[in-house]
Amino acid sequence: MPSSSWHPASWRDMPIRQVPDYPDAARLRAMEEKLARFPPLVFAGEAERLKAQLAEAGEGRAFVLQGGDCAESFGDFHANIIRDTFRVLLQMAVVLTFGGGLPVVKLGRMAGQFAKPRSSDSETQGEATLPSYRGDIINGAEFTAEARTPDPERMQFAYLQSAATLNLLRAFATGGFADLHEVHRWNLGFVARSPLAERYADIAQRIDETLRFMAACGMNSLTAPQIRETEFYTSHEALLLPFEEAMTREPSTHPGRHYACSAHFLWIGDRTRQPDGAHVEFLSGVANPIGLKVGPTTEIDDLLRLCARLNPDNTPGRLTLIARMGAAKIEAKLPPLIRAIQREGAKVTWLTDPMHGNTHSAGSYKTRSFDAILGEVRGFFDIHHAERTNPGGVHVEMTGRDVTECLGGAHRLTEADLSANYATFCDPRLNAEQSLELAFLVAEELKSRRGTDLRLQAAQ
Ligand code: PEP
Ligand code: CO
Repeated sequence: MPSSSWHPASWRDMPIRQVPDYPDAARLRAMEEKLARFPPLVFAGEAERLKAQLAEAGEGRAFVLQGGDCAESFGDFHANIIRDTFRVLLQMAVVLTFGGGLPVVKLGRMAGQFAKPRSSDSETQGEATLPSYRGDIINGAEFTAEARTPDPERMQFAYLQSAATLNLLRAFATGGFADLHEVHRWNLGFVARSPLAERYADIAQRIDETLRFMAACGMNSLTAPQIRETEFYTSHEALLLPFEEAMTREPSTHPGRHYACSAHFLWIGDRTRQPDGAHVEFLSGVANPIGLKVGPTTEIDDLLRLCARLNPDNTPGRLTLIARMGAAKIEAKLPPLIRAIQREGAKVTWLTDPMHGNTHSAGSYKTRSFDAILGEVRGFFDIHHAERTNPGGVHVEMTGRDVTECLGGAHRLTEADLSANYATFCDPRLNAEQSLELAFLVAEELKSRRGTDLRLQAAQ
C-alpha cells in the first residue's frame, strides 16, 4: 500500500533531479492532458504476472533476462531492428533455459526506453553552450538550439513508437516467430559465421530432438501453447515523470490501485534514487513491479530506507535491485549491501547490470570491455554463492545488430574497430554475438550453481 498522501502528482512537491527545462509550460500541460486520455500500453494483470515471475527469480526458481538499447531513438524505428533485438533475446533465453534448467523471464529495455539522465545539464562545443541531449522523448541529439530545446510534442511520438513496438513484440511473442520449432532460424547471419555458432546449433539440435520426443508423446504446439508462444515484458527507466504520471491509470479490474501503464516494469536510475526525491515518491505509489539501480555510492542506510519506502509490505517480486558496481568494485561494494538486506529480511530480487559501472573512453568513443563485463557477472555469481543468496538475473545494454561499440568478445574487437559501426545514441551496447557469448557464460554459472545446490541437497 502506498502512503496515504500519495497520488499520481505527489512527486511534484518533492525535490527533483534531471528535469528538462520546457520553455512553454502551457504546451507541456496540454500534452500531459492528451496523453492521459490515450489508451494504456500495458494491462495491470500483465504487470502482476510479471511481479509473480520476478518473485520466483528472487527465490532462485527463475532467471531474469533484461536487455535492449541504452536509448531507443526515433531515427532507428524499424521493424528489422526490433526483430533482431527480440531474436537475440530469444537466443539468449534458450541458452539460459537450457544451461540453467530454469524458466527465463524476458524483459526488454524496449518500447519506451527514451529518456536519459545526464551528468551535466549543458554541453559546450566551441563557443556554443546548449542543453544536453536527454533522449528523443525530450529533445534532439543534433547540436543546434532548435533540436536541443525540450519539446513536449516528442512525448506523443514516443508514445506512438512504444505502442507500435509493443504491438510487434506481442505479435512476435505469440504469432509463431517465437515457436521453439524456429530455434534454428533465430540464428542471425553474422552469428552463424561466428565461433559461437556451433555451440548454439548444438543446443538447437537438442531442443529439436526433445520436441520430437514430446510430439511422439502427444505434446505439440497445439496441445502445449508454451512451445508456440512466449511471454515478453517491457521496461524502461522512469525518468520523465510528467510522461509517467500522464500514463498512470487506476484500472477498473484493480480498483484502488494505480499502475504506471507505459510499461510493465519501471526502474529508478542511479542518479535519481534520493529517498526523499520525486522519482522515489512517484514509483512508491504505483503497483507495478519496479527496479532500483544500486551503484557503488549507495549507502546501506539509504538502501534500507529505499526498500521500506518502495516496498513497505515486503511483497516478493515488487522490488528488484539492479547492482551496477563495476568489475573493480563489486567485490567490496555488493556483499555489505546483500548482508544488510538479509539482516532486514527485505524481499528483493537481485540482478546484475554489468554495463554501467564499466564504461570508459577510447579516443572520442565511450566503450566497455567485454572482459570487464564478464568479470562483473562472475563476481555477482560468486558473491551470491558465498552469501547463500540468489543471483536473480542480468540486465544488459545490447542490440541484435552487428555494432562495434564494446571491446573484445569472440571476434576480439579492438579500439581501432570501434569506428566501423558505432551506432548507439547513448551508451555502448553488446552486439548480437557478444550478447550470445555472455548468455553462454551465464548459463555455465547457472549450471555449476545448480550442480552445487543438488550436491548440498543430497548431503542434507
Ligand atoms: C541506464 O540504465 O541506461 C542508466 C543510465 O543506468 P544507471 O542509472 O545505472 O547509471
Ligand atoms: Co546506459
